[in-house]
Amino acid sequence: MRFGSTEVIVLPSPEAVAEHAADETCRRAARAITERGRFVLALSGGSTPRLYHQALAAQLAPKRTASGRPGPEIDWTKVFILFSDERAVPADHKDSNYRMAEETLLSRVPVPPGQVHRIEADDGDHVLAALAYERQLVEAGLMPADLVILGMGEDGHTASLFPASAPRNGVAQSGGSPWITATEAPPASPVAHRVTFTYGALAAARSVLAMITGHSKAARLKEVLSGAADLPMRRVLESRREETLVIVDQAAASRIAEREST
Ligand code: 6PG
Repeated sequence: MRFGSTEVIVLPSPEAVAEHAADETCRRAARAITERGRFVLALSGGSTPRLYHQALAAQLAPKRTASGRPGPEIDWTKVFILFSDERAVPADHKDSNYRMAEETLLSRVPVPPGQVHRIEADDGDHVLAALAYERQLVEAGLMPADLVILGMGEDGHTASLFPASAPRNGVAQSGGSPWITATEAPPASPVAHRVTFTYGALAAARSVLAMITGHSKAARLKEVLSGAADLPMRRVLESRREETLVIVDQAAASRIAEREST
């Protein structure tokens, strides 16, 4: 199913979404490593990526594809891990995206520790952390990412770009940089101060893979795909010229009619 340059894949369950996203990641990793000698993967927070991380960690054991050939395996020594957003909390805080990734993926795959680039906002100063992360990624030559994993909140936010606080042009009001910015999450969110990829960083990524599951996302997903509302996830889809894959379960897709491929 296509919506402009976005391909939407509907699968039966969150587990199937996670498995498919892990397979797609492995394919992109193999291609990036063959073509450029490395794979730069930006992870997101939230509950949906947990299943994805577990599926990705399981990719270590080559899977048999339908043809019986071993499936794509990731050469983790050539993988660089970034974070598309982070809450301004210490790495061991219950709401840390890094902690979730460490527990569900990074502690289970042999990615070299020096190739994991955590957003360091432990003291809560998200503006300083955004500038430091920008500098770190630019000096390491890691932008744009090869693949950015995204989720979507019930309000249509993605990464930590929220409807009320997301700088439209991707450059933070606080004089941030084109790739990384500081934002504030709405009061209902677990942590207010955030560091996030900008719209520019998401637009420039070679690939974006968004996973959206659950009935609670169905109405927003319909708005995002139809363009009925100017939401952060919609802005990301509109800004992209390269491949964007949105993998959803049937619950999240329950409000979108099947459309002919365009
Ligand atoms: C964050 C996430 C955020 C998340 C969505 C979806 O730090 O909050 O990066 O963008 O991906 O809120 O979260 P769920 O998968 O938990 O619905």
